[in-house]
Amino acid sequence: MSTFRHPGLAEPRTKEEWRRYRDSRPPQRPNMPSYNAYLKLPEDDRDDLNEARDIYHSALAIVDTAQVKRLHYLLERRMKANARRAAGARAGLVFDGPPTVGKSTLVKLFGARHENRLRRKNPEKFQDGYEANGMLIDFTPVVYLSIPARATPKDLSVLLADYLGMVQRGRGTQTDITNHVLSVLADVGTELVIIDDVHFLDLSAKEGRVVNDHLKYIANETAATFVYTGVNLKKSGLFLEGQADSRATQTSGRNTRHAVSKFGCVTDREKIEWAKTVMALEDTLVLYRHNPGHLVKLSSYLYDRTAGSICALTDLVRESAIEAVMSKEETITRKLMDRIEISEYAQDSYRNIVRQRRNAASRRTKEVAS
Ligand SMILES: Nc1ncnc2c1ncn2[C@@H]1O[C@H](COP(=O)(O)OP(=O)(O)OP(=O)(O)O)[C@@H](O)[C@H]1O
Ligand SMILES: [Mg+2]
Repeated sequence: MSTFRHPGLAEPRTKEEWRRYRDSRPPQRPNMPSYNAYLKLPEDDRDDLNEARDIYHSALAIVDTAQVKRLHYLLERRMKANARRAAGARAGLVFDGPPTVGKSTLVKLFGARHENRLRRKNPEKFQDGYEANGMLIDFTPVVYLSIPARATPKDLSVLLADYLGMVQRGRGTQTDITNHVLSVLADVGTELVIIDDVHFLDLSAKEGRVVNDHLKYIANETAATFVYTGVNLKKSGLFLEGQADSRATQTSGRNTRHAVSKFGCVTDREKIEWAKTVMALEDTLVLYRHNPGHLVKLSSYLYDRTAGSICALTDLVRESAIEAVMSKEETITRKLMDRIEISEYAQDSYRNIVRQRRNAASRRTKEVAS
């Protein structure tokens, strides 16, 4: 399974921050002297190497899971279909799933890769002083917006303006700002607009309708593919097919909703996919006494601990790797992982599993005895 390492930075809010995210490179894999040589290193040198390993483990890896690959494929296909489509209702994508399943990670990764591919093909567009139609253009093919809580339609336009670095004179009305944003989006060649955490838009009965209209207007007037991510969008009233409100359906009618989910552990295919993800993370470990494959053997324990959440899994492996260096154990064992507490949700779910198993075992013992 291929991996793409990226430092987990804060969500970008401007095109400059986006470019920093796009260009960020993961820390280098530290050079490891033999274990004997390591043990004999002067204390400061050993400390430096351990620090480099901590940084490397902290960055861990972004894994191209089957879900990431599938959704990237759909995005690429939709962008190709939209590329030369006549103005009007371009079809967008909606990625809907519970918290921390990797929605933001996968859309940002797609955006960064898309932009890097464009840069390889058209390097001139990314240079300072690029001109088109007699204008100096700051080519911005990808726009990424992370929506803050209770955002209104006007906030959405202001966020777009801020991202694009537009100087906003005085207090423009929503229509002024939106129209200005739309003309800049066209000038700077935006092809992909990612709207992350769209459930934070104010979807109260009154505002929800306005939000739908506003999103439809922006998407209609922009020659870009829109991708939205959020939690519980199916029930939220946004993008919802078959709503009594026909205007909500106008937005849903042009977007396709795809579920983003946790890993499963029932079918063989699901188990293999989980094990492959564990393996991809295990491959990044720089520990002296860790036998490759040991973590994969603990796949089912890892599933119980994390309930199939990529976020909980990476948190657990990351902190366990750091603990293995700090405690000098230099390997990740089940015993070591038992000492690492991750999210409250994952801890609760693990405690439940252990309790259920214990109850089932004591029932079986009683049955045998009677
Ligand atoms: N493909 C991946 N490979 C490795 N780690 C990942 C991957 N996707 C997500 N993660 C880890 O899980 C964490 C949470 O992911 P992310 O923020 O993308 O989830 P989300 O679904 O957007 O969550 P929220 O609903 O809270 O916004 C990330 O910080 C990262 O550590
Ligand atoms: Mg997110």
